Amino acid sequence: MEKDRKLIIAGNWKMNKTVAESVDLVNGLKRELHGVKEVDVVICPPYTALSEVSKVMIESNLRLGAQNMSEHGPGAHTGEVCASLLKEFSVRYVILGHSERRQFQGENDALISRKARAAHAASLKPIVCVGETLADRESGRTEEVVRTQIEGSLAGLSADQMHDTVIAYEPVWAIGTGKTATTEQAQEVHAFIRKLLASLFDETVARKVRIQYGGSVKPGNARELMSQPDVDGALVGGASLEVRSFSDIIKLSV
Ligand code: 13P
Repeated sequence: MEKDRKLIIAGNWKMNKTVAESVDLVNGLKRELHGVKEVDVVICPPYTALSEVSKVMIESNLRLGAQNMSEHGPGAHTGEVCASLLKEFSVRYVILGHSERRQFQGENDALISRKARAAHAASLKPIVCVGETLADRESGRTEEVVRTQIEGSLAGLSADQMHDTVIAYEPVWAIGTGKTATTEQAQEVHAFIRKLLASLFDETVARKVRIQYGGSVKPGNARELMSQPDVDGALVGGASLEVRSFSDIIKLSV
């Protein structure tokens, strides 16, 4: 599958996997994905497993990501984890503004943009998540909602920083529900986001930024989704928790 943007497929393990289970999973992925160079593969375990997973990932083609980070630097922020603490484990990417955090931790676009700027200041690449709810889609507000999230969450980032920013379009109604957006629905919103990036930044940003699709991605639908012209990878939840399904998604996409 030829595209001028390199595919990026990330596994968001969410609040799953003990340290031992994490190490097993990464060892299995290393074996299966050894030699895969056409895709950037990112693994995002829970914080508690980052240290051990980072050791297992040394000298592999896998990259480490975190699922969230604080907007602040080190200091009095009980329960939070900042960029410099993540960097200790060679974390390269950080998921920001996942819909579960928007919904259950009350994260808003302004906070997400501060986190994105803090990530860049520490040379971490943010994966900024956006996506509409079922009610938004059914009332014809998908583009309006996605536009507001993109404008707000990327506010204050420079064009240069955007080159190292990944966007994940995850329709909330497709997350963990088994309902995938159709390839047409995904492509339509991805193309809309790319056009928006051209108007907010410039054509080069629009051409270079990778936009992942997320929401019930499985081996059975990965290839078709990623063959769409503006779909540059996937952010995978449930199917990233097993060696077979996650490595199949990657192998089927190249
Ligand atoms: P599922 O793949 O389980 O639907 O989760 C998607 C997701 O939220 C990834 O961040």
